[in-house]
Order: sequence, then C-alpha cells, then structure tokens
Amino acid sequence: MSVETLRWIGGRPGHVRMIDQTRLPLERVMVDIATVDAMHDAIKRLVVRGAPAIGVAAAFGVLLDVQHRDERDREDVLGRVRESAARLASARPTAVNLFWALERMVARATRDHASGAGILDGLFEEARAIFEADREICRRIGVEGAQLLRDGATVLTHCNAGALATADYGTALAPIYVAKDQGKRIAVFADETRPLLQGARLTAWELREAGIDVTLITDNMAGRVMFEGRIDAVFVGADRIARNGDVANKIGTYSVAVLAREHGIPFYVCAPLSTFDAKIEHGDQIPIEERGEEEVTCGLGRRTAPEGVRVYNPAFDVTPARLVTAIVTEAGLIERPTRARVDAVLRRGGVL
Ligand code: MRU
Repeated sequence: MSVETLRWIGGRPGHVRMIDQTRLPLERVMVDIATVDAMHDAIKRLVVRGAPAIGVAAAFGVLLDVQHRDERDREDVLGRVRESAARLASARPTAVNLFWALERMVARATRDHASGAGILDGLFEEARAIFEADREICRRIGVEGAQLLRDGATVLTHCNAGALATADYGTALAPIYVAKDQGKRIAVFADETRPLLQGARLTAWELREAGIDVTLITDNMAGRVMFEGRIDAVFVGADRIARNGDVANKIGTYSVAVLAREHGIPFYVCAPLSTFDAKIEHGDQIPIEERGEEEVTCGLGRRTAPEGVRVYNPAFDVTPARLVTAIVTEAGLIERPTRARVDAVLRRGGVL
C-alpha cells in the first residue's frame, strides 16, 4: 500500500513514527512518538486507531521507556514493562487487540526475566513479530475474503478497516485490494461514519489513493442505496468478537447489519484471531467506549447543537452473531457464527 500507518524508527533506542490520522485527508503528516505518555495520548486521541493498529502501537509503546532502563537491574526493567503496559491499557477500552498485544509483551518479559538485557532483547523481538504478523495476517484475510467478491461487485463498508487501521492492507478492505490485484472490478460505497468521520476522512482517502472506485455517502443513506439494489455485500472490521460470534465494531455497524438483513445482502466481518476475546461469551459483556460530547456537538469543526444539550456518544455497538453471514479470519471463514464454529477456528489458529 502507498500509506504507511506506523513503524519503528532506528534501532535501540528508537521511536515510533506514525501518520497522524486526525489530520487526514487534508494533511499527510507523520508524527514521532518517543514516550509511553505520548503513545497513550496518540491512541486516546485517535492519531493511531483501528483495532490491529492500536495493538501494534501499544507493543511498540512498551519499548519506549523500557529501552532507556539500566539493563543490569532486571527487576526494574520488568517493573517498568508492567507499568508501561498498565498505562497503555487505560487508553481505550473496546478494541481487544490493545490488551492482547500488551499481554503478549508482559508475558514475554516475564519469561525472559533471567536478565535485564534478555528482557529487552525479547521485547524488541516480540514487538517486531506482532508488527510483521499483522501485515501477513491482513493479506491472508484479503485472500480469504476476495473469494466472496465477484468481478463487478459493489461493497458497502463502515468506518475504516483498511491499511490505516492495521500495519498494512487492512481487514475489511483487504479483500477489496486482493480482488483488485486479481483483476476484478470492485466498487465501494463508504459510510461517512459520524461522529468522527473515519469513513469520509480515512476510507474514502485510502481507497482513492489505491485507485479503487469509491462513493461516499452519509450514514443515513445506507438504507437507500441498499433499497436501490446497488450493494452486493457489506464488509466491516471488528474491535472485539465474543465467543458466540457477537461483534463489536464502530457505532452504526449494527444499523448497517439490520439493513443488510432486511435487504437480503450478505454481511461479512473481517478480523484477525487477535480480535476474538475467548474470555467473553456474549457481546453484552464487551466494554463500550463512551467519548466526549464535543464529538457530537462540534464534530464538524463548528458547533452544530445548542449549548448544554444532553449528549450520548457510544463509540461502538454490538452486532449479534445471527446478523453475521460470515467472519473472515486468517484461519478461514466462520459461516453463520456460533460458539462451536468460533471455537473450531480458534482451535485451528492455536488460540484455544
Ligand atoms: O474508533 P476507531 O476509529 O478506532 O474505530 C475503528 C473501528 O471500529 C474499525 O472498524 C475496527 O477497529 C476494525 S479495524 C481493522
């Protein structure tokens, strides 16, 4: 892809360079992140966002302070790893990839804690592995999902589950990129995705950069374009998937799923196995982030609501498994997800 979401710069010590997603599409600005606090802020403010990208950012984030500790004091190094992980874990609550990546980093440090130098070597290797694996996994999701797209298909997507939301390629957009590489003509309708407009600012930008035929609509137009018979399939990403196949994703995804069911349109969720939370049985146990009211009252750069009006701003919703045609993972499709089918794929992928 022509867009680089984030990467580690330098060796040891080094820092993270990421595209500032709050400034797209008007400005393409790279920012350098050199401390745990700066990484916490970048995740919280959505400078970096999208479940897999948040996981990669957090893994790199753990390195930022730890790399400067005295290697001779292994207890200090291990303590700092745990502190950094706890701080980063408090940035956002819904995307499980954040916690998954941090748990991997802490487990690695604990395993290697015979020496401070050993912990640091291990952590650099682990963060690099999480980053590289994400790119590879997205490509595999793309190959699996492209089979669901015929030449000439039109897809509706919500939010941004593309290259900007991962280390590369994306999840929900990966099948579209792979299908294009296979010579298929694919068109996309992108919901603008209020309140923060990830669809308008990021998906429309990213798809245009990649030369994909994209049409932007406001969220309340999705039903109309489905009614007009323009949509062949819905592809979305996920922030956390429960054991029974319920899917948390950007607010508005549930409405799109209900509309898709009404119009007989397949609804596909694309996600890596790291987005499944095996500890959560049902979607109603998934913590849903609530964000500031100004995102709703002043979301478009000027105030659009009366002062003092009460606002409710959940950033995610849960789509029940019964509305999901299939979940597309790097370990294959989970058709009409149920707990047994989710478990079978998690077992195949070595998660259970
Ligand atoms: O609030 P955001 O922009 O982080 O929300 C992102 C989404 O909801 C994405 O659809 C999801 O993380 C999947 S990204 C591959």
